[in-house]
This record gives sequence, structure tokens and C-alpha cells, in this order.
Amino acid sequence: MHSKLTTVSFNSYSYPMAKFHALKVLDIRKETKDCSVISFDVPTDLQSEFQYKQGQHLTLRTTIDGQEVRRSYSLCSSPIENQWKVAVKKISGGLFSTFVNESLKKGQSIEVMAPNGVFFKDIQPEKAKNYIAFAAGSGITPILSIIKTHLALEPNSTFKLFYLNRSVKSIIFKEEIELLKNRYFGRFEIFHFLTKEHRSVELFNGRFTKEKLQVLTDKIIDVPEVSDCFICGPEEMIFLIRDELVAAGLPKEKIHYELFTSGNSEADKQRIHKILEHKVQGTEVTIIDGGKEFHFTMGEDFDNILDGALAAGADLPYACKGGVCSTCRCQVVEGTVAMKLNYALDESEVKRNYILSCQAVPTSSKVVVDFDA
Ligand code: FES
Repeated sequence: MHSKLTTVSFNSYSYPMAKFHALKVLDIRKETKDCSVISFDVPTDLQSEFQYKQGQHLTLRTTIDGQEVRRSYSLCSSPIENQWKVAVKKISGGLFSTFVNESLKKGQSIEVMAPNGVFFKDIQPEKAKNYIAFAAGSGITPILSIIKTHLALEPNSTFKLFYLNRSVKSIIFKEEIELLKNRYFGRFEIFHFLTKEHRSVELFNGRFTKEKLQVLTDKIIDVPEVSDCFICGPEEMIFLIRDELVAAGLPKEKIHYELFTSGNSEADKQRIHKILEHKVQGTEVTIIDGGKEFHFTMGEDFDNILDGALAAGADLPYACKGGVCSTCRCQVVEGTVAMKLNYALDESEVKRNYILSCQAVPTSSKVVVDFDA
């Protein structure tokens, strides 16, 4: 079955309404000891729906021990390769990542949502752009897709990648990155930073710090010439890099980032606590989805519209439930909500009343949200 297309657009991209399709694993191979790359077989009749932009992600769903589990993983392939690949790094205690790294086999099927996400800039083949990117560990996945695509389709653009890992052995896509460096000699530079291996140049030992970033912006990055910066990694790394780049003169609008997770920092906790104080009890909610209306009353046990709606029996798109992936986005057409966290929508979307339903705390007695907007 084909999903319907919504008219919501951002960054020149139309979002398909999120529905799952069973896709066969075409190939699964170990990239490092604890990271597997899955390649999906997308049948011809689904290929137009599964077209994607560099930097977007797939949401995967399966049942493990009787429990439905969904996770979003960035595509590490490029749209120009006509492949759909994601890298899944095993995390300690991670249900889905353990399943992928230890049990998933070639030929098995997994349910997959059409690509989604806003972590990209449109390709401009005639422009000569200078991009920089920062990645930590598996944060390389969307960045690799972005690098491959821009370098291939913008023949005059350049890329500098600053890539943090524990050791040489744990570098995901090390070989592919080396090949890219050779293919795009003079246009692509890579700077490896390692936390568990010591090398002679002190700058490249250990995590990104304020001091290191100052050296980079002084000596390696020509800040006024940077067109766009892409960052993917943990929250504190992203905000440190963003703040240092802004301090060095890079406009904030040129900095794009994708978080691994959110909601753990003290600032986030305080913000969530404050927002929840404004929650109205028993809000009457109407969901518009697929041209149909769904009505329910927010239960006391739920603090956000997505969870309230799912508990009442609605079938709505979501993945991270952490304000990061934007899969659960919709538009408020009546009433008010406050978002606990928002790492996915930009200011212009928020002004147009787009919200992340997984973060939307109702603050009026009636709320109508439109998932078709
Ligand atoms: S489900 Fe990811 S932002 Fe709401």
C-alpha cells in the first residue's frame, strides 16, 4: 500500500505521511566490531515514495520479545547511489541495536517508514560552497550522506570534516571516507580526533574542547568563507561547537545539527518542569489525519498529545518521542499547546503553529491538531 503525500513542505521537500512498509534486508555487514550497516531492498513500486535527501533518516519498527520497538537511523548512503543504507551501532542495553547487531539476517524483513527529516541543505550545482562538518562516532551517518552528495553534485564545493572517535579501529566508514578523500583530492579534507589513542599532534587527541575549537577556527577553518556547518553527535558537543563557531563569527543560521538524544540535560529538565506546570487537565483533543477526525479527552497519565492519542487508539507517526526527529509533526489549528523540547522545528515553522506532538502539552481546554497540514 502506498502512503499518501501531505502538502507540508520545508526546505523544498514534501513529506510523505508516515506509514510503515515491510522491506527486505538486501545485505547486512559489520562496519566495525559493534556497528552493522543494513542495506534495504526497496521494491520498484515504492522507490518514488522512498526518494530521500542526504541527511534524512529512516524509522524502523519491529517486535522484540512481544514488544513493539521503533528507532530512527540516518541514511548513510547518498540519494545518488540509489541505495538505502543505515548504520546501527550497538549500544549497551539497547534493545533494537542489539537485535540488529546480533540477530538480524539478510533476507529478513523489517518495517520501515519512508525517509524523513530536515537535516540537509538543498544542492546548488552551480555554486562553489565551503562546508564544514563535525561528527562523533555514529554521528557520521547523516554527515557521510551529506558529504558524498554535495561533493558529487556541486563540483566546485569543498568539505572539511572533523571526526571524533575512540580509536582507529572504532572509526565507522573509515575506508569509505579515505576513498572519498582520494576521489575528491583537494576538495575534501578530514581531521580525525581520537579519545583513546595518543598521537603526536596534541590538537587531535581527545574530545572537542573550547580551546581546540578556537585553534580550529584560527588555523584550519576560514570562518567568513564557510557556507554551512553540519554537526551530529551528543547534545553537549553540538552546543559547544555551535557556541564557539558563533563566537568566531559564523552566523547561527549557517549551523545545522542533528542530536542523538535529548531531554537529559539539567536545562532541559527545568524547562520540561516549567512547561508541565501549565498543563490543562482533561483537554478535548481533535486529531485530523488522512482527512478524518479523531476525538479524545487527554488522560491524566499523559502529558503530551501524541501519547494521549496513541493511548486512545489513534495510529499516528512517531519515532524518537524525544523532540528530535520531527516524525510526529503536525499543526495546531485551534487552541494552544506548549512544547517541552524542540530540537527539530525551526523558528518559521513554530511561528506557523507547527508542533511536535510528542512534546506538545495542551494548555487550553480544546485543541485541534492537523497531521495533514
Ligand atoms: S517522535 Fe521524534 S520528534 Fe516527536
